[in-house]
Amino acid sequence: MTDDVLAEQVDYYRRRATEYDATAYGDLAVARPRIARLVAEMRPAGRVLELACGTGLWTEALAAYADSLTAVDSAPEALAIARERVTAANVTFLVADIFTWTPESRFDFIFFSAWLSHVPPDRFGPFWDSLRPMLADGGRVLFLDEHVDEQGKESYVHDGVVERRLTDGSTFRVVKHFLEPAELTARLRGLGWECTIRRDGDDWVLGEARPTP
Ligand SMILES: C[S@@+](CC[C@H](N)C(=O)[O-])C[C@H]1O[C@@H](n2cnc3c(N)ncnc32)[C@H](O)[C@@H]1O
Repeated sequence: MTDDVLAEQVDYYRRRATEYDATAYGDLAVARPRIARLVAEMRPAGRVLELACGTGLWTEALAAYADSLTAVDSAPEALAIARERVTAANVTFLVADIFTWTPESRFDFIFFSAWLSHVPPDRFGPFWDSLRPMLADGGRVLFLDEHVDEQGKESYVHDGVVERRLTDGSTFRVVKHFLEPAELTARLRGLGWECTIRRDGDDWVLGEARPTP
């Protein structure tokens, strides 16, 4: 079941790529300054990894701070948009599946936006375990996602699985677990991560995690 839904999720974002910015962010003149502000507040530096970079709206902001930035996503169609958007020489885009990809080097700063909510419960622990060896000493993981208060906008077909519709009418099952900060903090602590999570507006939450010493 999970593997089927995860494959459908990958397919969904490939097909959604050209409509993603408009349907996910609405007015980019509003979204871009918010993204730029949040990235500045995160203080990214050094060797940066962005997982599930999508069309590159966060990549664009991260690139200004990174010595090097590796941006990974499973959708070549989204990366094509990201490559046009972000032409900075310090950025490398890679098509890969986050659940199986292993980087060749370590990173000072790992970031993902709107990804954690798409990780199913049975992959949650293994996903966080996979991040640990990717982090350099003193490294940090930052993540941005939607607060649980936003879940009413989704159409749930099973616990943690929603149905999404593209503008052509096609439908896809997607994993979606909105973030509840206290619950997530406790869960990450149980996996060996110290985490602080704060809200930004009513819709987004921003978390910072470090391996427990
Ligand atoms: C909600 S979008 C977020 C895009 C971008 N981070 C943002 O916030 O605008 C989720 C992204 O995860 C990517 N994705 C889905 N499954 C993936 C997988 N198994 N490996 C890598 N990327 C995946 C999709 O292609 C999509 O670009």
